[in-house]
Amino acid sequence: MKFFVDTAEIDAIRELNDLGMVDGVTTNPSLIAKSGRDILEVTKEICDLVDGPVSAEVVALEADAMITEGRKLAQIADNIVIKVPLTWDGLKACKVLSGEGRMVNVTLCFSVNQAILAAKAGATFISPFVGRLDDINLDGMDLIADIRQVYDNYGIETQLLAASIRSANHMSECAKIGADVVTAPPAVIKAMASHVLTDKGLAGFLKDAEKAGIKIV
Ligand code: E4P
Repeated sequence: MKFFVDTAEIDAIRELNDLGMVDGVTTNPSLIAKSGRDILEVTKEICDLVDGPVSAEVVALEADAMITEGRKLAQIADNIVIKVPLTWDGLKACKVLSGEGRMVNVTLCFSVNQAILAAKAGATFISPFVGRLDDINLDGMDLIADIRQVYDNYGIETQLLAASIRSANHMSECAKIGADVVTAPPAVIKAMASHVLTDKGLAGFLKDAEKAGIKIV
């Protein structure tokens, strides 16, 4: 399972990238706004830092305007993925941009039907939002499993990119289901390293080491 990091914070991306934990990056207008930086400038910096795909999202609503914005974003670097919303216009833009050989991530997916349409329109990635479904008392992970099943039924090559990931548990559930990619905030990726028994075990080992006067250097 590939790890994308869901942020526009350069320092956080660099730290995870140096550890080999970053296969790509996703951003959205809210994350860009949070960074307080110009979208073209910060996205270029991310693309220079990371070898893998970097999603940058359009803000237009109509297909023609999305296509114009997408082409502009694609000029930033070769590893840009143009992110478009899962609307009818977004699907039209996806079809045109993917037909030009550009990578497209269709975002804000909340149903299997939407995921089928995105694949038909040539999406490189489909981004179903797990956390936002959980927020309205639905089970976001069911959608990941359902899209996996449908894509596998037909050998669809669009990559299943689980998004809106809120916990380390979401990460392991996505891995069990077989999501191709998971995009998560840096804190969630770091939380994967934590376990209460690791902390407890380490405290015990250190206590015994101190008692026995164990020194290594
Ligand atoms: C996906 O590409 C989005 O950027 C992101 O995962 C949204 O997550 P949120 O629902 O936590 O804002």
